[in-house]
Formats: sequence, structure tokens, C-alpha cells
Amino acid sequence: MKYKSQKIAYYFFGLSMLLLTLQIVYGFIMGFAHMGYDGLHGLIPFNTASAVHKNLLVVWILSGFMGSAYYIIPEEAEREIISPKLAMLQFWALAIVGVIAIAGFHVGWWEGRKFLEIPRELDFLVAIDVVGFILLILLTLLKGKKQTTTAWVLTMGLAAAGLLYLPGMIFFDNLSMDSFFRWWVVHLWVEGVWELIMGGILAFLLIKLTGVDREIIEKWLYLIVGLTFLSGILGTGHHYYFTGVPEYWLLIGGIFSALEPLAFLGMTIFALQMYRKGNKKHPNKLAVTWTLSTAIVSFLGAGLLGLAHTLPQVNLHTHGTLITASHGHLAFWGAYGSLVFAMISYAMPQMTGRKIYDNRTGHLAYWLSNIGMLGMSISFAVAGIVQVYIERLSGKDFMIAANATKPHFFVLIICATLFSIGITYFIINFIKFGLPTDEALRTDDDYEALNN
Ligand code: HEM
Ligand code: HEM
Ligand SMILES: [Fe+2]
Repeated sequence: MKYKSQKIAYYFFGLSMLLLTLQIVYGFIMGFAHMGYDGLHGLIPFNTASAVHKNLLVVWILSGFMGSAYYIIPEEAEREIISPKLAMLQFWALAIVGVIAIAGFHVGWWEGRKFLEIPRELDFLVAIDVVGFILLILLTLLKGKKQTTTAWVLTMGLAAAGLLYLPGMIFFDNLSMDSFFRWWVVHLWVEGVWELIMGGILAFLLIKLTGVDREIIEKWLYLIVGLTFLSGILGTGHHYYFTGVPEYWLLIGGIFSALEPLAFLGMTIFALQMYRKGNKKHPNKLAVTWTLSTAIVSFLGAGLLGLAHTLPQVNLHTHGTLITASHGHLAFWGAYGSLVFAMISYAMPQMTGRKIYDNRTGHLAYWLSNIGMLGMSISFAVAGIVQVYIERLSGKDFMIAANATKPHFFVLIICATLFSIGITYFIINFIKFGLPTDEALRTDDDYEALNN
């Protein structure tokens, strides 16, 4: 760590871990409900658990991104954050609005649109918080000594993500129109601007961890930005197939979304190539593992599992089934969950001075969480195939399919337990690091002394 204000990242990472833990609790509530054990129904019905699970997911990932930006931007721009006090205020505002939103869901205070359930009044507070965050990051970058490509891609990705929250706040009394613009947020986030954030953070990590020249790494970044926009923007059409929009979206959505895996493949090859070229001397093996894993598992979850149901002929049958849940889990985990974990694994030793680089707890955390999540995704996929066959192809009742998939949810719960043990190990390491300290400040670059 070179700048004191980078320590702010710690609080965002801590919040991220806390919300992930809560998200998992609600995942179990739904998993058991699918198995037929819905004892909490009176208190937390499935739809409440589902909204809480998904919104906690979005907030822990965003908190992870914000922490990453507060860590990366000072280092890239070579100056302190312009106002650490405002940054801490922005942190508390995020945490408080998040808690109020989640509590509100339990008493039916929500909008009911998947992923954008937060009620309108709170939307404005979220928007103000995010604008504050973007201004802090942008001004720090502009006033810095340097403005690197990595820092710009990350900042622009974050700014665009903030801007894209707005289409979800327009009011429509027509469901097709509402759905049309809801995807501008949900799709253009995960298959558009969040990919830029991912590219920026991955580039930063690869520069630090492999010792490969910044110029080479940043050239790749341009390619990834290009591929993302080329495919991801019109790829939004894969959500428009049967929603009441003109028919040409079938063709546009099908073609462009089928190209989307290329951007993720680009990221996989990018990271593996840089690792191969690098001198492999960095002692932080855990950060290297999570970084490479992000590049690989994102391609599996987003690229391959996305491709599996993106053509209209397939999506006609699979839309809104457990096939979607299979893809949603591995994609979110592989791309954005793992990315946050990679950044935490890299930044914590730097902020606290404690060199937990390669311990057993850390490796167990990695393997258990990833094997668990892969197993969960396979369980969802098998249940999804059964569901599509019974409900969509044979035209039987929803509850017949729901009963038939109970055994798959038993397997899912076992895999989810493995996953949760992995996460617990990760959090144990996180706690072991302790609080960030100014004693961890360093002006020399011995972590980066990788250029031979
Ligand atoms: C132990 C942990 C978890 C369990 C047991 C679990 C279980 C579930 C269940 C049962 C659903 C509802 C599926 C349905 O009926 O539609 C769901 C939805 C979802 N979960 Fe999880 N989950 C867990 C962790 C996670 C994590 C870590 C992530 C992200 C990294 C995640 C992302 C999602 C998403 C995106 C959805 C919505 C899927 C859709 O759009 O169909 N979950 N989860
Ligand atoms: C990291 C990137 C990605 C993440 C986090 C992600 C996550 C998700 C989630 C959570 C949903 C459910 C959304 C909802 O119903 O509101 C979804 C739907 C979908 N995703 Fe992705 N996705 C990613 C990338 C991709 C890619 C690259 C493709 C195509 C190649 C793809 C294809 C689809 C399709 C076709 C649906 C609609 C499923 C349905 O009709 O029910 N996704 N994705
Ligand atoms: Fe999409």
C-alpha cells in the first residue's frame, strides 16, 4: 500500500463479506423451500427470500467494486483520495441504505421488478450515493499525477454502471416497455459495463502479480473493451425475444448475444497468457489463484452457460426456468464474485502488512467454494432440464415439475454446504488479517520487484 487513503477499501470489503454471508442464508431458505421444507414461509415467503438474496448479491458485489476502486485509483493516479472523509460518508450511506432496503423487503416495501426491487424513494438515495462515489474516484484520477488506461477503463466502467441505473427508474404503465428498459440496467450491467470494471481490475491485478509490462496488458484491455461493446450492447436482444417487441430482435439478439462469449474468452486468454509470460515470482499465491480463476470460471459460467440458452429456439423453452438459475449462479460467481475475492486477496496483505499469501485456509477456501458452486450450478442445470421437459415440453403443471426436482435440490444443498464452508474459510482469513494500518505503508516497490 502506497497511500493512506487506500485503507478505505477495507471497510467496503468487510461490508461485502457480511452481505455475502447474509445472501447465503437466504439462498438456503430457498433451497430448502424447493425441497419442500418451507417452515419459515409465514415469516419469509419465497418471493421475499428471492428478492433479498438477489439484492444482497448486487450490493456485496458493488461494495467489492467500490473497495477495489478506492484501492486501485490512488495507486494508479499516484495521489491520495481527494476526500477520505467523504469516502467514509459514502461508505456509511451505502451500508445504511442497503440495510433499510433489505429490511423493507420483509414488510413488502419494494417494486417487485427482479433485481430492481428497491423502492423508488430509496432509488434516489442509491443514485446520490453512487454519484458521490463516482465524483470522488473521477476527481482523484483527474487530479492525480498519472491517468493510466487501466484506471480510465475502471472509472468509466463504474461511471457507466451508475448512469445505467437511471433507465430502471423511469416509470411505465406498460409491462413490455418496463421490461425493455429494465434490461438496460440488468443486462447492460453484467454483459456490458461491469465487464469493463472486470477488465480494469484484472489488468491492475495482472500488472501487479505477473510483472508483465503495463503496455502489453493495456493493449489487451482495448481488445476486451471492443469485443464487449460489439457483442454486449445489441446482445441485450436475447432478453427481448417474447416480450412484445418487434420480431427483428429475435435475429439481432440471437446473433450478437452468441458473440458475447468472445469477450469472456478474450479475458481468459489474456490472463493465462500474461501469467505464462510473467516471471511467477509473486509470493501472493492466493491472489494469483483467484485472479486466474476469475478469468477461467467467468468464461464457463457466463460464456458457455450463457451460450447454452441464448438462441431464441432454445430460450423459448428455457426462459425463466432453473436453467437460468444455473447460469446466473456460475456467471455471477465466476466473473464478479471471484473478482472481488481476487482483489481482497491481493489488497489485504498490502493494507494490513500481514503476509497471508499461501496458507491452507486460503487454499481450502478457494477449492471448496469453487467445487461447491460448480456442483450447485450442475444441480440447478439438471433440475432445469427436468423442469423444461415436464413443464414446457409435456405441458404439465408447475407443481408436478416442482415435485420432480426435489431430489436435485437435496444435491444442491450438499454442494451449497461445501460452498459455504469455503466462504467461511475465506472470511476466517479475512478476519486473521486484522485492521488496516499505516505501518503497512511502503514507498518502495518490493511487491512489484518482479521485473527481474
Ligand atoms: C449457499 C448458497 C446458495 C444457495 C443455497 C442458493 C440458492 C438459490 C435458489 C434456491 C435460488 C432460486 C432459484 C429459483 O427458484 O428461481 C437462487 C437464486 C439466485 N441466486 Fe443463489 N444461492 C446461493 C448462493 C448464491 C451466490 C453466492 C450467488 C452469486 C454469486 C447466487 C446468485 C443467485 C442468482 C443470480 C439468483 C437468481 C437466479 C435467476 O435469475 O433465476 N446465489 N439461489
Ligand atoms: C458475467 C456475466 C453474466 C452474468 C452475471 C449473467 C447473469 C444472468 C442472470 C442473473 C440472469 C437472469 C436475469 C433475470 O431473469 O432477471 C441471466 C439471464 C440470461 N443470460 Fe446471463 N449473465 C452473464 C452473461 C451472459 C452471456 C455472455 C450470455 C450469452 C452468451 C448470457 C445469456 C443469458 C440469457 C439468454 C438469459 C435469459 C434467460 C431467460 O430467458 O430466463 N448471459 N444472466
Ligand atoms: Fe443478458
